[in-house]
Amino acid sequence: MIGGGNSLVGEIEICGAKNAALGILAASLMTDDTVTVENLPDVSDTNVLIQAMESIGAIVDRKDRHTVRINAGSINSLVVESNYIKKIRASYYMLGALLGKYKNASVALPGGCNIGSRPIDQHTKGFKALGANVKISHGRISVEAQKLTGNHIYLDVVTVGATINIMMAAALAEGKTTIENAAKEPHVVDVANFLNSMGANIKGAGTDIIRIKGVEKLHGTTYSIIPDQIEAGTFMFAAAITRGDIMIKNVIPKHLESISSKLIEMGCEIEEFDDQLRVVAAKRLKQTHVKTLPYPGFPTDMQPQIVAALATAEGTSVVTESIFENRFRYVDELIKMGAQIRVEGNSAVIEGVGRLTGASIQAPDLRAGAALVLAALASEGESSIEDIVYIERGYEDFHLKLKSLGADIDKVNGEREILRSKFKVV
Ligand code: UD1
Repeated sequence: MIGGGNSLVGEIEICGAKNAALGILAASLMTDDTVTVENLPDVSDTNVLIQAMESIGAIVDRKDRHTVRINAGSINSLVVESNYIKKIRASYYMLGALLGKYKNASVALPGGCNIGSRPIDQHTKGFKALGANVKISHGRISVEAQKLTGNHIYLDVVTVGATINIMMAAALAEGKTTIENAAKEPHVVDVANFLNSMGANIKGAGTDIIRIKGVEKLHGTTYSIIPDQIEAGTFMFAAAITRGDIMIKNVIPKHLESISSKLIEMGCEIEEFDDQLRVVAAKRLKQTHVKTLPYPGFPTDMQPQIVAALATAEGTSVVTESIFENRFRYVDELIKMGAQIRVEGNSAVIEGVGRLTGASIQAPDLRAGAALVLAALASEGESSIEDIVYIERGYEDFHLKLKSLGADIDKVNGEREILRSKFKVV
């Protein structure tokens, strides 16, 4: 439940990157030694993956909210039966990790946000090139190999998931693997750094050619996950859309350049420091155009947030989605709030309106859910947003962090509490 209209002002601490965490957690299965992972975000996607890891016998000891110790020496099954696993995209990382170490794995086909068809052909192409047999049947994907041998793999599309998955399997293959047209996202680099800290030999992560020399085995490590680029970007847009002033702490400003540069075009001021960044929005936002692209381009995971902000900006903007084909489902919800947006193919044409108005809306997926919260914070009157489980997949304490910045926001459970809350939503 959100009462709109407050400018968000203050300081906020960003968590570890969810998408890096998912790769790193899975990769920690690749040694029998104990691995300590720090700066782990406490969100449902990472918690579901931990449950899946436990379900095959890994021992996961949560030292504190953001630190886990993982020991996979006691793995007793290579079949991931977890009921939860279908809910998250990153279940597929267990394939690469287990294939690398045990040359065998079977995992329920990945789920994740409904933002378009999400094929895994590049993952399977990579596994096959390393010598694995891949079978998809009864909603499961099974991979097995006598041995894995390094190979030259050219990815037909730039994919984060396949790059990380192939990198993991190849880390324990015999000989050299080259991944060409690799994804360059910060979390690809983070997973590579993590694997290297376990004794892998991976070079070139962060460029489009990654070279991996297989090693015989990996060892334990202690590793701290990089800050979450998308959580940081979401709070940057929270400052922009509410005409606020937020100091966003524990970030790597370089990872946020595509987001910062759009916010500057939209009229915000950005001050960069070593590991923090301040966003000030003193006046009404201005229009801009943007197309989502693989890193270092503007991230598809920030597309709904920029559309929400541009819905309130001066002038006409065009936002083009080039990664996922079905990522504008939330636009209907923004229209309920008075936004003027037309979706034409893979572009949204946005005529900025002065002010959105509160409404009763639904989160269709993780990032769109966060964007709708931002829209509601900038609206006149009150809003209710249902299905916030999506938001909780990727944002830790989202409503509490917003509240600490002055947002009028409460989390309620079910109709009864909604009726009892102070908010009145039309
Ligand atoms: C990851 C992120 C997600 C983000 C996306 C793009 C995780 C858990 N999720 O998703 O938040 O939105 O990167 O930055 O890290 N593709 C194929 N074949 C494949 C794999 C992908 O055609 O085998 C296509 C996809 O349909 C999409 C594009 O490649 O059009 C990029 O997808 P990919 O980078 O793989 O996304 P995910 O890893 O699923």
